[in-house]
Amino acid sequence: MSFDIDHLDSQKGKIAIVTGANSGLGLEITIGLAKKEVKVIMACRNIKKAESAKLEIIKTIPSADIEIMELDLNSLTSVRSFAKSFGDKHKHLNLLIENAGIMIPPFSKTEDGFESQMGVNYFSHFLLANLLMPILNKTEGARIATTSSIAHENSRIDFDNLNSENSYSKIGAYGQSKLACLMFAYELQRRLNKAGSKVIAISTHPGVSKTNLFSNLPKLIQVLMTPFLPFFTHPPEKAALPMLYAALGDDVNGADYFGPTGFNGMKGKPGKLNSKAHSYDKDVAKRLWEVSEKLTGEKFEIKKL
Ligand SMILES: NC(=O)c1ccc[n+]([C@@H]2O[C@H](COP(=O)([O-])OP(=O)(O)OC[C@H]3O[C@@H](n4cnc5c(N)ncnc54)[C@H](OP(=O)(O)O)[C@@H]3O)[C@@H](O)[C@H]2O)c1
Repeated sequence: MSFDIDHLDSQKGKIAIVTGANSGLGLEITIGLAKKEVKVIMACRNIKKAESAKLEIIKTIPSADIEIMELDLNSLTSVRSFAKSFGDKHKHLNLLIENAGIMIPPFSKTEDGFESQMGVNYFSHFLLANLLMPILNKTEGARIATTSSIAHENSRIDFDNLNSENSYSKIGAYGQSKLACLMFAYELQRRLNKAGSKVIAISTHPGVSKTNLFSNLPKLIQVLMTPFLPFFTHPPEKAALPMLYAALGDDVNGADYFGPTGFNGMKGKPGKLNSKAHSYDKDVAKRLWEVSEKLTGEKFEIKKL
């Protein structure tokens, strides 16, 4: 089946959280949801940036129902306080869209000592999903979607170097974090099934799109790449479509994986894909889950309703 967001009915009444909603794909996902009358919580670390993004959105969609809440994925304390504030204000959550991310920064650690890409892209999102699961579980038809990448394809989960304890490869740590996001969605779906929950977990990747994500690439490479970009990238509004499909499509099932279906998965119409075989490894996913519980300091149990 194909996904045509323009012909989708209004989704009024739904609430979505989008992490990293102020720029790039998160911004386009927010716009797509707002056009369909979903109330969007922009979960952003920089409130000023979020406010100016909100103003831009409202200029084109005056009816957009948007709330900004602070979330810094560099800190588990911030994740906890975000989840608490959300729960205090809202009684349901239809869509948890785990989009925010960083790519190939110089080595640094998050507030809690995680390698920054693993911490921001994966561990904080793992905890966020955990803390919001009770409210998702109470919401009819709730979905949680993680953001992976083509980078998962050549990556492995290295339990001996999960947070670059032994060595740091920028690209390696990015790929590992994106594989972790993907395997987390698959493992979450297995556990949701076991608990008899109706929530579904999905993963997506956007292909390749020139956003701020590439700001850590050397400037020369950025300049040299520019003339070739149209051949292997697509604009953020197109790259957001796999996530919008996962969020709003009516033929979406738990453990689906969405991405562009064109040239090498880098661009093109959104559709269902198979990720690489190693991402379906149940033993690795189970171990990753257990390590993630330990490192985030919180058991992730899904209550039977
Ligand atoms: N663009 C691509 O080609 C591509 C390909 C594969 C996967 N992806 C994935 O797509 C997602 C979105 O990336 P993008 O391309 O849209 O990049 P982007 O334009 O750089 O957007 C990333 C978003 O994440 C936010 N963020 C970064 N660190 C954060 C933190 N500590 N706490 C909260 N938010 C934080 C950023 O906030 P600030 O504005 O404050 O920095 C920004 O809103 C990422 O998960 C990325 O890995 C992108």
